[in-house]
Amino acid sequence: MCGIVGYIGPRNATPILLNGLKRLEYRGYDSAGIAVIQDGRIEVRRDAGKISRLFDLVEAQPLAGSPGIGHTRWATHGAPNARNAHPHTSASGKVVAVHNGIIENFLELREELSAEGVTFRSETDTETIVHLVERYMASGKSLVEAARAAFQRLEGANVVVLMSAWEPDKLIAARLGNAGGVVIGYGEGEMFAASDIPAILEYTRKVAFLESRQMAVIQAQSVHLETLDGKKISPRIHHIAWDAVAAEKGEYRHFMQKEIHEQPRSLADTLAGRVDFERGKIRLPDLNLTPELAQRIRKIYITACGTAAYAGMVGKYLIEKIARIPVEVEIASEFRYRDPLIDSDTVVLAISQSGETADTLAAMEEGRRKGAVLWSIVNAIGSQAMRIADGYIAMQVGPEISVASTKAFTAPILDQYMLAILLADLRGTIDESTRRKLIADLRLIPQRVGQVLEREAEIQKVARAIKDTHNALYLGRGIQMPIAYEGALKLKEISYIHAEGYPAGEMKHGPIALIDEHMPVVCLAPQDPWYEKMLSQIQQAKARGGLVIAVATEGDTQIPPMADYVLSVPSVPWMLAPVLTVIPLQLLAYHIAVIRGLDVDQPRNLAKSVTVE
Ligand code: AGP
Repeated sequence: MCGIVGYIGPRNATPILLNGLKRLEYRGYDSAGIAVIQDGRIEVRRDAGKISRLFDLVEAQPLAGSPGIGHTRWATHGAPNARNAHPHTSASGKVVAVHNGIIENFLELREELSAEGVTFRSETDTETIVHLVERYMASGKSLVEAARAAFQRLEGANVVVLMSAWEPDKLIAARLGNAGGVVIGYGEGEMFAASDIPAILEYTRKVAFLESRQMAVIQAQSVHLETLDGKKISPRIHHIAWDAVAAEKGEYRHFMQKEIHEQPRSLADTLAGRVDFERGKIRLPDLNLTPELAQRIRKIYITACGTAAYAGMVGKYLIEKIARIPVEVEIASEFRYRDPLIDSDTVVLAISQSGETADTLAAMEEGRRKGAVLWSIVNAIGSQAMRIADGYIAMQVGPEISVASTKAFTAPILDQYMLAILLADLRGTIDESTRRKLIADLRLIPQRVGQVLEREAEIQKVARAIKDTHNALYLGRGIQMPIAYEGALKLKEISYIHAEGYPAGEMKHGPIALIDEHMPVVCLAPQDPWYEKMLSQIQQAKARGGLVIAVATEGDTQIPPMADYVLSVPSVPWMLAPVLTVIPLQLLAYHIAVIRGLDVDQPRNLAKSVTVE
């Protein structure tokens, strides 16, 4: 969703803003713009389309000054054109703002302001903010007071960063609800604001996050945080461990490719410090899981969206099998509309890479309202899903920039595996030798994932063979069923090919009618408890002329004679196999998209963090 960046300090804001926007591109956008205060006036450059158009515009009509704000817009109100692109200025041109979210009472505010004679120049809800601030400043309020008064009028979840040529020594940033994060970056004699850490990582690793209904008054030498009703807050400063290089593509052509290849390392980091292989113990201290809590949990709801939800579906198998606690997985956008049965012995476990997905946060709030214990598995440090939880597991995967999530899919699988062992241990439902065996099984996983990655050339060959298909089926059973869903999602989102993930056993109840010689059928068939069933599924697909691509265990002798292509993965215990079998599917989707010449890291219509409902 929309990306925001702000700068105040002695340097020219323009290159810092442009660079920040470039690093926020992954969030998805359809227009971009910047504003700086130059010689006491606000200068704006904005345009529809890619940031490169904004770069060209700035080159043709340079602007320099400080402070400055920048924005990448993902259209909600109004078409994605230059007129609706942010920043938006007030009638006098003295107030300028960028915004992420939806102002729910926008029509009402617009009518009110129009009745006072304000002429709107865009179709956006954002424009109401600058007119409101200008109106309050005209009535004698300072910028801070005017911004605060304006923010109090806005309904809905919104993030705003604004400035005024009347008080050019400050930037105001506010977070009103869960429309996405605001990170404040602390530099030496200069400060930054952004939607996400990568935008400012090059300049500082010292950051603080705004909570809902908080605002920041940012000056070059100081940051003042307060609630919307003016109560001062002491910032909680975090030191980000990633460096700027972690958010660079490096030798890779795309972030997605880089992130797929990072998985041996991200999975090793996931285990580091948490798995004690010697003692056969798991440590997840941030989860705040006491033996008493472990004993009383009667049910776990896993809630998440998209890829994160599929990771949760794998988690259901792991937690139910190892810890013997009933688990339900619920898509976060449905959870709160269904009146789920929750009490204080229920855990609501949210999984989210960004920790800012609006539906996931709303599902967590539903859990909170009904008295559940709230846990999260989150990648973005300091994000809302991490902060509002009673306990969390931080994914150790570093920044995930590509819209298509890959390393943030495999890490939470291992996180849930560790969680399942810890729960079983604390509940006393697992004997020591089983526990030790489950833990020992983890040891080689990162290395095994590396072995799958070495087979990229074979996967590329399959990608070439099916690149022109219009449809694809992905079939799996048991713990591999969510991998079928995830494989299909990857293909859909980056190659725009219609793909369906389906429980293989359900094929005979209808979808098998789809199979003919034009239908690639990707079958997840490692040697696990569902293997025999998958063999018969492969036979059925072949009998109907389908082009079968099987993901199978290395050394399998039954599948190669049946399948058109075999993508092999090393043999690992079945509960950990999803971490391996998903890798060829990530690479398959990636290479098909590359061959088709598509924008892999920023697929059309998609945003990295979906911060609106
Ligand atoms: C994954 O490839 C998707 N782009 C998407 O499904 C994503 O996983 C989903 O939007 C959830 O995001 P989150 O993990 O940041 O909450």
